[in-house]
Amino acid sequence: MQILPTISTTFIVISAIFVALGWAQIMKGNRESHQKLMLWGAGFALAFFIVYMSRTVFVGNTTFGGPEELKLAYHVFLIFHIVLATTAAVFGIITLLHAFNKRFAKHKRIGRWTAVIWLLTAPTGVAVYVLLYVLYPGGETRPLIEAILGTY
Ligand code: HEM
Repeated sequence: MQILPTISTTFIVISAIFVALGWAQIMKGNRESHQKLMLWGAGFALAFFIVYMSRTVFVGNTTFGGPEELKLAYHVFLIFHIVLATTAAVFGIITLLHAFNKRFAKHKRIGRWTAVIWLLTAPTGVAVYVLLYVLYPGGETRPLIEAILGTY
């Protein structure tokens, strides 16, 4: 188990919990709590991103250390998770911009997608973490693109 991936995965989970709570609050009409909880959710998502990118730049990314026959499935799943996370980040920024500019109809429409995608990103992130560090010993540390595509 490695410390930085453990911290960043924990941040994703905390962020998703805030987003779920923030959604529940706006369903009850509590705009102020919704705003606060979503900003905490966005803050933890940003914290995740900072830890993840620092590790990528200064240390590298861990390759899959599990059995050879699972390698392809792992990489397909990893890419699915990365696509979800990237989409959630872009949608998240647009959602926040609509909210701050008081375009609430647009905010609400895209906000639902942002929340759903982020709530899928978190469990798939935990699954990647479990596959990479818990079920199997982590492989070598390699540059980002090799760790994602499995070209090592
Ligand atoms: C990335 C962060 C955020 C996400 C994912 C998000 C998500 C959502 C969602 C899903 C809804 C619609 C709920 C529903 O009817 O199903 C909503 C509504 C709303 N949000 Fe957010 N929100 C975020 C941040 C904010 C912030 C920072 C503010 C305040 C500046 C805000 C203010 C509102 C308001 C006022 C509504 C009600 C709109 C209406 O009913 O017309 N949200 N948000």
